Amino acid sequence: MAPIIEKIAQALHLPHKDSKKGESAPPATSHAPAPAAAGSAPAADAPKTQVFDSSKVTVIFVLGGPGAGKGTQCDKLVREFDFCHLSAGDLLRAEQNREKSEYGELIRTYIKEGQIVPMEITIKLLENAMRAALAEGRAGEGWAEGKGRFLIDGFPRKMDQALKFDEEVCQSSLVLFFTTTEEVMLKRLLKRGETSGREDDNEESIKKRFRTYKETTMPVIEHYNKQGKVASIDASPSIDEVYEKASAVIKELFAGTLNRNVTV
Ligand code: C5P
Ligand code: MG
Repeated sequence: MAPIIEKIAQALHLPHKDSKKGESAPPATSHAPAPAAAGSAPAADAPKTQVFDSSKVTVIFVLGGPGAGKGTQCDKLVREFDFCHLSAGDLLRAEQNREKSEYGELIRTYIKEGQIVPMEITIKLLENAMRAALAEGRAGEGWAEGKGRFLIDGFPRKMDQALKFDEEVCQSSLVLFFTTTEEVMLKRLLKRGETSGREDDNEESIKKRFRTYKETTMPVIEHYNKQGKVASIDASPSIDEVYEKASAVIKELFAGTLNRNVTV
């Protein structure tokens, strides 16, 4: 494991159920449970369970290229379905700007270069935000008795994030995949860049983000496609037209009638 990853894993290994694993960082690549010694109490090395129970906590990943309209659609879905919306990019930017963050500079560099931030950081930020939302005990549909529903926007962008999150944090239910052309995305991002203040909404960073999306994120979509978990939505039309389809998919998901791996 590269030293920087080791350092990150160590520092972000905040107290939770597997915090007794020891002082050293867990290897980021090996999740194979060590066999428990016969007769011993369930130890820190016992097979891992997920942090959140997917029979209570619904996780929907929202993917699509930069500028596909993920955030815009999530804002609308939150209003209709009482989701907690967590944007991985927003969480990373907040951590980047947090005064005492050890990772501010590292995150800034990755974002500017359109690269994927080491997964330990992003997953820990998501896990903490989910824990906080569940502890807060929100009002609204789907939030009684320890239940919750989350739209996780812009995540997972790389296979390692997908595998680790599903195995260790919470099994996802669905991938809402917004697809459109690079031409449309570039136009939207440059428009957004006029007011967003984002360091990566410029043509040079956008090109890099497109490349990362094709090379690193598309395999994630293919992975979930094979699992029959993807609902693809053409994100080229107007916000309201796209939303009509997105909303219908979510209604069907909650009604238990959704046909996955469809393009709507
Ligand atoms: O989703 P958004 O466009 O806000 O993400 C901005 C940047 O944050 C990405 O280009 C990438 O550098 C970083 N990011 C990441 N891993 C994620 C989501 C975002 O590294 N899962
Ligand atoms: Mg966004």
